[in-house]
Amino acid sequence: MYRTHQLITSPAPGRGSNRPRARFSSDAVEIDLGGQWRFRYHPRADRAPELPERGDDTIAVPGMWQLQGYGAPAYTNVTYPFPVDPPHVPDANPAGDYQRDVELPEDLAGRRVLLRFDGIDNAAAIWFNGTWVGETKGSRNTHELDVTAHARPGRNDLRVRVVQWSASSYLEDQDMWWLSGIFRPAAVLLRPALAIDDLRVRADLDVATGSGTLTVEVESEDPVPRISLVGVEVGTIRAGEPVTIPKVRPWSAEDPHLYTLRVETAGESAEVRIGFRTIDISGAQLRVNGVPVRFRGVNRHDHHPDRGRAVTLEDIRTDLLLMKQHNVNAVRTAHYPPLPGLLDLADELGLWVIDEADFESHGFVEIGNRANVADDPAYEDALVDRMQRMVARDRNHPSVILWSLGNESGPGRNIERMRQAALDLDDTRPIHYERDWTFEHSDLMSLMYTPVDVLERIGRFDADAGTASGARANTVGKRSLAEAAALAPKPFVLVEYAHAMGTGPGGLREYEELFRCYPRLQGGFVWEWIEHGLATTAPDGQPRYGYGGDFGEAVHDGNFVADGLLAPDRTPRPGLLDVKAVYAPVEIRVDAAQATITNRYERSDTSALAFVAQWSDASGVVTEEPLEVPSIAPGEHVRLPLDPPDGAALVTVVARLAQPAGWADAGHEIAFGEQLLGTPAVRPPLPERWQIEDDSLVAGGVRLEGPTLGAWRAPTDNDRAVRQVELGSTSEAAAWAALHLHAPGGRTTRLDRDGDAVHLSRRWGFAGRDVGFTEDTHARQHGGVLHLDTHFVPFGPWPVDATVPRLGLDLELPGLGAQTRVRWFGRGFHHTYPDTGSGMRLGWFDGTVTDLQEHYLRPQDNGVRSDVRALWIEHGEHWLQIAGEPFSFSLRPWSDSELDAAAHPDELGETGRLVLSLNAAVHGVGSAACGPGVLPQHRLRPTPAELHLQLAVVSA
Ligand code: GAL
Repeated sequence: MYRTHQLITSPAPGRGSNRPRARFSSDAVEIDLGGQWRFRYHPRADRAPELPERGDDTIAVPGMWQLQGYGAPAYTNVTYPFPVDPPHVPDANPAGDYQRDVELPEDLAGRRVLLRFDGIDNAAAIWFNGTWVGETKGSRNTHELDVTAHARPGRNDLRVRVVQWSASSYLEDQDMWWLSGIFRPAAVLLRPALAIDDLRVRADLDVATGSGTLTVEVESEDPVPRISLVGVEVGTIRAGEPVTIPKVRPWSAEDPHLYTLRVETAGESAEVRIGFRTIDISGAQLRVNGVPVRFRGVNRHDHHPDRGRAVTLEDIRTDLLLMKQHNVNAVRTAHYPPLPGLLDLADELGLWVIDEADFESHGFVEIGNRANVADDPAYEDALVDRMQRMVARDRNHPSVILWSLGNESGPGRNIERMRQAALDLDDTRPIHYERDWTFEHSDLMSLMYTPVDVLERIGRFDADAGTASGARANTVGKRSLAEAAALAPKPFVLVEYAHAMGTGPGGLREYEELFRCYPRLQGGFVWEWIEHGLATTAPDGQPRYGYGGDFGEAVHDGNFVADGLLAPDRTPRPGLLDVKAVYAPVEIRVDAAQATITNRYERSDTSALAFVAQWSDASGVVTEEPLEVPSIAPGEHVRLPLDPPDGAALVTVVARLAQPAGWADAGHEIAFGEQLLGTPAVRPPLPERWQIEDDSLVAGGVRLEGPTLGAWRAPTDNDRAVRQVELGSTSEAAAWAALHLHAPGGRTTRLDRDGDAVHLSRRWGFAGRDVGFTEDTHARQHGGVLHLDTHFVPFGPWPVDATVPRLGLDLELPGLGAQTRVRWFGRGFHHTYPDTGSGMRLGWFDGTVTDLQEHYLRPQDNGVRSDVRALWIEHGEHWLQIAGEPFSFSLRPWSDSELDAAAHPDELGETGRLVLSLNAAVHGVGSAACGPGVLPQHRLRPTPAELHLQLAVVSA
């Protein structure tokens, strides 16, 4: 009891671990302890026996027990899921007793035996052969415990009691699932006598001369370790003494050149991959090797839908390869240090890393910051320990260029202590911390979700930034936050932006333009990489991804946990393709006669790229020819003439990798630019006669019911979010609901027939409201083609700031379903809204209705295809063809209301019909779920709009 009680209640760091040290691989023996362990779950730690039990159950290590049948996952964003009473936690505090046998060799030959745990959530006490040997706190920190005194050859008994909650839970309030267990690898290390106890490498670059200075500090009982740089002749390298190498190839995210350092002592031989680079801040710019850094970043959490935070190196590799393939050049390890393997890969593939300490105490804001652990002396040692563990482990990695003190923990004396602890171990990297708005303890200015108008002023060092529209209300002393940010002579990063929740994020392009324009704005990190949906089942047994509230939580934050560029199974969302286009390191602009190519790499020319021009004819047949592009220096551009062949309807210039890179094959597409030159070919109509009624359009077996006014959408996560700034404390969805846009009612005011022509006028309003749109539709047919020309004009006293989610005609196609095939010329393949879709190119695209849907964890409007000039929908033996001036459409087996009513995609089934929305205009999506709303230029006001369409039945 005593030990567990102490483990739970003490705000101090864990006990009994060795001093933290660097991670490196060597020839010393490591025994992986992954696999099935014996397990016993205790619903209350205070009722468990003193010594952890050897349970009858088994459990996977690494793993999280809530995902293996014990307890349940719980999700909160900011709120602590227990009463805030630091350092205490409730009695209902489960414990998991882990036991396994550890086989040690007969001959330990003077080796020390260490246990190494890379991650145990939340706190653990460890027994070896019946003796308590220490405890761990800091769920995402590595702990090594020396058990030599208790170890014996043959079978040893290792027991670990893990508690779900402890005093240190107050330090781990990150926005993610609350999950517990030994979730990162565990190992036994057999450390030889005269081993390398620690290793510190400094590999600086002299920017002026190109020389490198290498200093290797070795901690060992061997007084003369042998050190060499593989393949480089540098004479003798003595531990602790700098050596200069006249010419080195520097490391950067764009050219991640690594050298292999070999260190040998009498007991151990290690190889470490190192990179030469120098970080400094000059003129309010963060530079590496003298060149300012431009973060095209993402925030990444560990997540797997079956295993929670127990991710494998394969999961990490998948993530980092996807990042590189999508032009991402930086990752923030939100909000804790990653598995060390992530940093090895970042070194190798080339990613700038902000390595963040395992600290967030955001929940204290909900109680007025009373007793925030960031300022509580009782937590000082624990926070310093977290910082030291990260820096000591990770400081040899060239990819890590900033240390971050944690996330959203407010100001406090412990923040300063953490900074100092980091600098004591490593003064080569600047420090980042966003949530102390004096920025006293941060070498950079850093904010989250800043609106573009405020950011622009920060870029200009404009003291009026604080009064810009949309500035956050936060203040630092008498200054507004934005004003403070604008004035301080420090580099600026947007450490979180473009909240990728549900359909979106909108407005990426506008941020990018500012980053390009203002040297002080050094880019940002999209929030976030992956949606944290957990695999579970619906009541009827169908698989689904669960979010907050799906696991019986009393307090939760719903689907706010699902806000990533990847679906939980790591399938890219459309937003990732937009990120790829916006982050592209070359910008290609095309008009009919020429292509302008601008190099946006920080430091590389374009010689790694091959360019082609693709010419597409009206039917979509593509020919391709290489484009000779001279190598372009960073920041420079070239203009090249283009020579369209006869009949070219679309030209696309594509940049691809000329050679394989470590992260993609040769030919991998990096960027594209395009220009429409003609119109897509449509098929000749079948000579069918159209019957035009005010509630249906029928021709040759094709039946379209409607049209009716479409002026609503199933609100997206962004539409549903309450935005103080732009919307005066309401949400778009609430504003639309107040206008009852989902409940249109129409009245025919004119129906004239003149031979084959029909003139239909209707007045559309909304239940209980006196605003609406008049619709004037002129329909005439000619040789099987039905020409529909519709004009919408708003009427009535619309609220001044009113927006409408879309404006168009909705039709139902009875008898069609999810397998119906669709073909269109427009943007694709994925959806596009006015402020998204940079990654979607023009062309002909095919798919089924199912393929058109983007299933976010909570259903919402999605799947709108824009800039469409031709659309075909399979209908029995024929196709319905809709051509016209650019319009947008969605096609689904359910109505907007049905889509909106569902809480999970599995609740949406076949309905025996398709709903086709043909939109004249659509409202943007923004990123209001946690950020700015839709920018003015992408907002759809109740203004006049037009649709000009030609419908025909065509043969297959
Ligand atoms: C930020 C926070 C992240 C995440 C995000 C919203 O404020 O740092 O951890 O909660 O908001 O998804």
